[in-house]
Amino acid sequence: IEVDEFDLVVFGASGDLAHRKLLPALYHRFADGQMPEAARVICSARRDYSTDEYRNWAEEALNEHVSDVEADKLARFLKLLVYVKVDLGSGDGWNDLKAVLDDRPDVIRAFYLSVGPDLFGTICKGIGATGLVTEKSRVVIEKPIGKDGASAKALNETVGKVFEEHQIFRIDHYLGKETVQNLMALRFANALFEPLWNAAHIDHVQITVAEALGVGNRVGYYDTAGALRDMVQNHMLQLLCLVAMEAPESMNADSVRDEKLKVLKALSPITSGNYDKLTVRGQYRAGASAGGAVEGYLDELGEESQTETFVALKAEIANWRWAGVPFYLRTGKRLAQRVSEIVVQFRPIPHSIFDDEAGDISANRLIIRLQPDEGVQMKVMIKDPGPGGMRLRQVPLDMSFAEAFKVRNPDAYERLIMDVIRGNQTLFMRRDEVDAAWAWIDPVLEAWSNSKDTPKSYTAGTWGPSASIALIERDGRTWSEEG
Ligand code: BG6
Repeated sequence: IEVDEFDLVVFGASGDLAHRKLLPALYHRFADGQMPEAARVICSARRDYSTDEYRNWAEEALNEHVSDVEADKLARFLKLLVYVKVDLGSGDGWNDLKAVLDDRPDVIRAFYLSVGPDLFGTICKGIGATGLVTEKSRVVIEKPIGKDGASAKALNETVGKVFEEHQIFRIDHYLGKETVQNLMALRFANALFEPLWNAAHIDHVQITVAEALGVGNRVGYYDTAGALRDMVQNHMLQLLCLVAMEAPESMNADSVRDEKLKVLKALSPITSGNYDKLTVRGQYRAGASAGGAVEGYLDELGEESQTETFVALKAEIANWRWAGVPFYLRTGKRLAQRVSEIVVQFRPIPHSIFDDEAGDISANRLIIRLQPDEGVQMKVMIKDPGPGGMRLRQVPLDMSFAEAFKVRNPDAYERLIMDVIRGNQTLFMRRDEVDAAWAWIDPVLEAWSNSKDTPKSYTAGTWGPSASIALIERDGRTWSEEG
């Protein structure tokens, strides 16, 4: 369905995110007929591009990142791009931007801040001072939203001086992933799961977001963040919320976000008193990945550092539904393979009527695979076919999205940008969610920094430090097979 006419202003339009994600996402939506021909993407950066030069740059980006570019659609799409140079240092260019936007003050206007958070303040101030905020305006900001609760508060206040909360779209791109949205469909569009979705029937939940890549050229940023801030504070906690939340009264943005907030507030604190039993930090050393030798984190960084590139933790949600059900989370760079999945492990059957040794009957397991090979699997017990008595075996009821639908799996940004234009905040983080997530993360960071122990080293290309395996095995459980 086509969205209304809009002007999208992208700050940082010559940067990496625009190149890899934003332009390709916009192109796809355009090619699929969702963007009106009268839309404008006003691209802004410090560089001295003319609009034609920027279009050439964008064309290269699209040829590189979109595998099925169609020449005629590409030519039409590029016409929507307009370049306006704004120099944030001197302030030159704001009036040029205003002149372009003033052409049509009544259409939806979205400002996408595809820049580091240190520039959010300058840009918001510029937008405000130049009088660019109209009734139909909104702003999009990306993580990192702060490096702790206090800095997040300061950032949110800065943006909040120019935009109201209903105009602020905080992106967590995990919420735009197809399978993540499918988690909501699975839970709330089926009668099957919800009656079992609680401590009486679920033994534990695992959430893994494993990456094979290292930190690459983002090492400068990454070293100030680490895996806990980079992945857990946002993406992993959002996944946990979607698994654990109560049914919202509707898909309305505040209904969903109210429920997620309750989960965040119910997380049991991890502090200096218990962090050593509940968390594991790791840092990769040299090893092998995808068949080749790779450097260790410290070699890439070129100096000493205690920054963690891996974290595993055991979270507990202190409420009626989840009391006593651990949520094991792990994420890291340079792990054995790229795989993100949520595993819901059900409790064993109460009693076996079969002759098999008890161990042969494995408890049901629901696996929601986010990437790669998106899909949902339900592991169930069946009788092994053929003669030979009642031999039991666990098999997956398997739904691979690629096979079932044979359609391109849209990138998270496609959905999210269009939601910004539609004004739908359901898949964006509200300010109090960000605060609540930090309120749980801050004490972990503090416990780590007060402790004498350092991240455990693990060989690149493995599943992280052995302490991560011990974390879950202490409880008599194991990480799902990929681990
Ligand atoms: C980003 C993190 O938010 O998410 C990166 O900053 C990480 O460090 C990335 O690599 C993972 O996203 P995806 O979509 O590739 O799983």
